[in-house]
Amino acid sequence: MIAPSILSADFAHLADEAHRVGGAGGADWLHVDVMDNHFVPNLTLGLPVVQSLLKVTDIPVDCHLMIDDPDRWAVGFAEAGAYNVTVHAEAVRDPISTALDIRAAGARAGLSIKPDTDLDDWVEALRSYDTLLIMTVEPGFGGQSFLAEMMDKVRSARRMVDTGHLTVVIEVDGGINADTIEQAAAAGADCFVAGSAVYGADDPAAAVRALREQAVRARG
Ligand code: DX5
Ligand code: ZN
Repeated sequence: MIAPSILSADFAHLADEAHRVGGAGGADWLHVDVMDNHFVPNLTLGLPVVQSLLKVTDIPVDCHLMIDDPDRWAVGFAEAGAYNVTVHAEAVRDPISTALDIRAAGARAGLSIKPDTDLDDWVEALRSYDTLLIMTVEPGFGGQSFLAEMMDKVRSARRMVDTGHLTVVIEVDGGINADTIEQAAAAGADCFVAGSAVYGADDPAAAVRALREQAVRARG
């Protein structure tokens, strides 16, 4: 699955930007980066903008909450109709009950780990989640370089899923482009967030299709 990140889109034309990646062969998920300028040193958008975006797109919306106190805020995004709501392991206080709350509100629950966070510490909690988002850059900004050393985490998560220890979708986020997606796919990722590689292209929908073809080929 390819999840274009609207962080690299034109925020004055979000409806049009969502449409540009939609349609047949287009985006599987639309990735929305919610940043609060506390958990990460950047500020983007919040629930009112997500609510408006949900009204104008049929693409399942994937909310990546880079915020403090996600236990309090995550359920609002699920109630609004987001398809997947991801909280950060480094910010969440009660990961299990937050996952249950997100699911009870009708969304899939995701847990994200920053580059310095050890996957092994979160395996138990991940049994309550539907998505594992492995950051392949430090969260906060688009256009950064892919951290290839995160592929060990992806391979380890892939093994846990393949052996039935976890049932999460493995998503990678940060620096995914034509030069890096094959490594991430070969390591076992299922879902690829791409901001600048999609919205920086002349034809974002074609970029989505090209990335998916590369990923499918590399996954074998
Ligand atoms: C970064 C965000 C990413 C960002 C990725 O903190 O979580 O979703 O949009 O952008 P690229 O694909 O440009 O690295
Ligand atoms: Zn993101």
